[in-house]
Amino acid sequence: MDRIIEVLKERIGEKRLDHTLSVVDEALGLAKRHKAPEDKVKIAALLHDFAKNLSLEESLRLTREYKLELDDVTITNTELIHGPLGARMVKEYFNIGDQEILNAITYHTTGRANMTTVEKIVFLADFIEPGREFEGIQIIRAKALVNLDEAILMALDSTIEYLLKKGSIIHVNTVHARNFLLRIGVGES
Ligand SMILES: [Fe+2]
Ligand SMILES: [Fe+2]
Repeated sequence: MDRIIEVLKERIGEKRLDHTLSVVDEALGLAKRHKAPEDKVKIAALLHDFAKNLSLEESLRLTREYKLELDDVTITNTELIHGPLGARMVKEYFNIGDQEILNAITYHTTGRANMTTVEKIVFLADFIEPGREFEGIQIIRAKALVNLDEAILMALDSTIEYLLKKGSIIHVNTVHARNFLLRIGVGES
């Protein structure tokens, strides 16, 4: 843990390390609450933004170096590319072979259909950690304590609304994540 934090401090800087440590706290709280494997949640949360500080140019260079096959939307956006690229990098740097941890990092920004509990927790913790502020966050925070799927549906709605307002591209995994939850009846009362 200490070694990871030292490496992180150098790679992502103090400010993003603060965010990362808040995500770890938040994620561990949710893991306890929802009886998820705390060790996996902790590692994934700690490393989720490993590739975040890289420029798009550097990200693309590494993507080629690792021969990562990324879709056209991901590859033009550092906001999206840092998930899958970060997962590949931490696999290399810290010898992490656990696919669930790597998936939690890969999909922490977009979400995806049928996420595991570890993936859900990392996605949500990143969304609601105490440093985040946006309208409606309190309701999502409260919901996350009782129902992860309902909280994720709210988070996805909020993300999609935000992207629509900005006129931005919406990654298809975000839509798949939302459709999946609706199909299994989340949000119906
Ligand atoms: Fe991120
Ligand atoms: Fe993050």
